[in-house]
Amino acid sequence: MAAEAALPSPPAGELEEAILALKRERRAVLLAHYYQESEVQDLADVVGDSLALARAAQRVDADVIVFCGVHFMAETAKILNPDKPVVVPDLDAGCSLADGCPADAFREFVESHAGARVLSYINCSAEVKAMSDLICTSSNAVQMVRVFDGQPLIFAPDRHLARYVARESGREDLIVWPGSCVVHEQFSARGLAELRIRHPDAEVLAHPECEEAVLDQADFIGSTTRIIERAVASPAKTLIIATEDGVFHEIGRRVPEKVLLQAPGMDESCACNRCPYMRLNTLEKLHRCLRDLEPQVTVPEEIRARAAVPIERMLELSR
Ligand code: 13P
Ligand code: SF4
Repeated sequence: MAAEAALPSPPAGELEEAILALKRERRAVLLAHYYQESEVQDLADVVGDSLALARAAQRVDADVIVFCGVHFMAETAKILNPDKPVVVPDLDAGCSLADGCPADAFREFVESHAGARVLSYINCSAEVKAMSDLICTSSNAVQMVRVFDGQPLIFAPDRHLARYVARESGREDLIVWPGSCVVHEQFSARGLAELRIRHPDAEVLAHPECEEAVLDQADFIGSTTRIIERAVASPAKTLIIATEDGVFHEIGRRVPEKVLLQAPGMDESCACNRCPYMRLNTLEKLHRCLRDLEPQVTVPEEIRARAAVPIERMLELSR
């Protein structure tokens, strides 16, 4: 095992070809999120937002799933495909939302609100999903909240998405787990206001994980797929985008004539608009996981079986 892991990767210029050859040899499907490096997106069979990737995972016909995203996304693919190996380039690719909602603390939180139903954002662990009545993503959260009209409802683990959903659905009584995304929380409302003054004709597109003062300035709020679709359809020639800058690749490919501006972060000196977890996945690690079929995502069967129920329910409801 140690000797195998030490095998050298092909030289940089040959990595893409080697990955495609291994993908064919393994009969693997490569699913990638829009926050992956451009070169990873270009090799994928499906590139999408969390919902599209969960849907793609539900329909997999390949022998192996290679997931280029973060752990909770690959875990979702494994929950839907217990009999297939799901490999990832880097098992440490976590998510501040999932990591900030540990299962034991969440269990206590749920127990302290007896009688409340539980709607969890897909950015959470399999254990948290197993404690949930329904899962949502950023593209269907408002629709999923409405399933629980008239019932006390816990929404976890993103407080910014919860606030956005509460406003859109009129459910001001949500019981919210107070997590946040380290990437979306760092956009600066003041910096955005200044950029809008310099570009008065620009349209502002934002992900609902952003803070309220940023969302208040947005012309359009949506998931990564919806942001890309709006960027393509918008009559505006200049777009200011408040989400991870991986989406620039697909927007640039589809509407290369548009001017894309990143919403400024609070700290201009860091690349804080790049998800540090998503960006752990490199071509070298992708090659290695296809070659070695390691590391694999695993979920204990008892948790997997319970977590599958609210995920499949969401997929059924949002068809
Ligand atoms: P999407 O569902 O929009 O792809 O969001 C995933 C995510 O992690 C946002 O930070
Ligand atoms: Fe998690 Fe935020 Fe990274 Fe999305 S961008 S995976 S929510 S840390």
